[in-house]
Amino acid sequence: MNAHAPKPPLAMFPYRDRFPVEDKLREVPRSREEILAELTTVAAEEDKLGMSGKLSGSVYHGGHDHYDFLTEIYRLYAHANVLQRDMYPSATKMEGEIIAMTADMLHGECAEQVSGVVTTGGTESLINPMLVYRERGRIEKGITAPEVILPVTAHVALDKACHYFGIKVLHAPLADNWLVDVDWVAKNITANTVALVGSAGNYPHGLIDPITELGQLAMQHDIGLHVDGCLGGWLLPWGEGLGYDITPFDFRVPGVTSISADTHKYGYGLKGTSVLLYANPSLRHHQYFAYPTWPGGLYASPGMSGSRSGGIVAATWAALVTIGASGYRDIAADIFATAAKIKAGVNAIGELQVIGDPRFNVAFRSDVVDVYHVSDYLTSKGWRMNNLQLPPALHFCITRPNTKPGIAEQYLVDLQAAVEYAKHPPQPKARSGARYGLGAEPDGETKMIDAMAMGLDFMQSLPPRD
Ligand SMILES: Cc1ncc(COP(=O)(O)O)c(C=O)c1O
Repeated sequence: MNAHAPKPPLAMFPYRDRFPVEDKLREVPRSREEILAELTTVAAEEDKLGMSGKLSGSVYHGGHDHYDFLTEIYRLYAHANVLQRDMYPSATKMEGEIIAMTADMLHGECAEQVSGVVTTGGTESLINPMLVYRERGRIEKGITAPEVILPVTAHVALDKACHYFGIKVLHAPLADNWLVDVDWVAKNITANTVALVGSAGNYPHGLIDPITELGQLAMQHDIGLHVDGCLGGWLLPWGEGLGYDITPFDFRVPGVTSISADTHKYGYGLKGTSVLLYANPSLRHHQYFAYPTWPGGLYASPGMSGSRSGGIVAATWAALVTIGASGYRDIAADIFATAAKIKAGVNAIGELQVIGDPRFNVAFRSDVVDVYHVSDYLTSKGWRMNNLQLPPALHFCITRPNTKPGIAEQYLVDLQAAVEYAKHPPQPKARSGARYGLGAEPDGETKMIDAMAMGLDFMQSLPPRD
């Protein structure tokens, strides 16, 4: 305990002066009523931004009656452990049906024999296939120094996976159209390459890589092609039927061997699920782990996780079956229309350039103004954009709450004013920078790593125990 450590900024810990700090278990517990009141207050305050329609990404559905229904379902199975398959066969049924519905949407009928797993989120749905392709390379081809080629725009969880599994990453640059440079990928495939990755769409710019061309390369070299559809996998399929020009990315594209699609994003489930599909069960097999001689009993598991709540499986299943194809299509229509309006509006502002040709996640940059100053101004008007780097840019990932009437129009008015502000900012250095997951934190000195360190400092600055 360090009683003298400086207190971290109030912005990161706004409750420290409002509510008791629970740094050790109380002998006499607090009442349920008090806790319910405390968290009801906090949750309502924190929910305001997400519900306002001024937030990029993160909150995908935003309907509280939808969330109330899903939590009602969650409640029925919150305490159930999916691991205990004999006790909860309904979880097995629901998981199987979540996988089947996702596979149907992504044209699994075109795969050899589509199979899948429900994971805890996008990151796990990217970590598993990296393990699978490493194992496939090792077992089938004797590769001991595996390599994977990722577009620089591919989600960083793939780098994390390769770091965990000792896979060398080659970062493929972008071509002039902001999509992965397929020629570079072709030239850099070696005998050690176990897989390629393409995104649909990628996190920074929302763009779909040329999956057809990547599929050709994957087939030529008999290697995997994972399509990261964590973000777009549950949204883009509806665009095609609505008449939007959507680059093919699903199992209809020859050479695609796995796809991730997050049910907790545009699948409108509660946070904590994603679907990972493989073109055949033998690929999925490489992510299984079995250990027959453990004193705890013969152990076999299909993926990373051990115990998992049945609540999240049931709630995800309930989201899919109560929204239905017509519901997903209707919401997607509003999202694509709002994104098109915002894209056109950004394009009309001479100082800004939209990156590539996005459908739902509109990123833009500038050669004239510092976009982080633009971000500062938008933050002051209540918007929370995602700030990017290399190059500096902002993106507005359109979700259902952003489709409310008037939101796009107000955004474009504020964006135009933000550009004017950025031409003559009151201080030379913008307050915001690019920090994944933190939005445009209005404190230029706060780096994500600082935030983590602050968490530790905060613990150390708690009052010493007697
Ligand atoms: C394209 C893409 N892939 C993967 C992820 C990681 O998903 P998660 O945050 O659920 O782990 C994200 C998150 O935004 C993403 O946009």
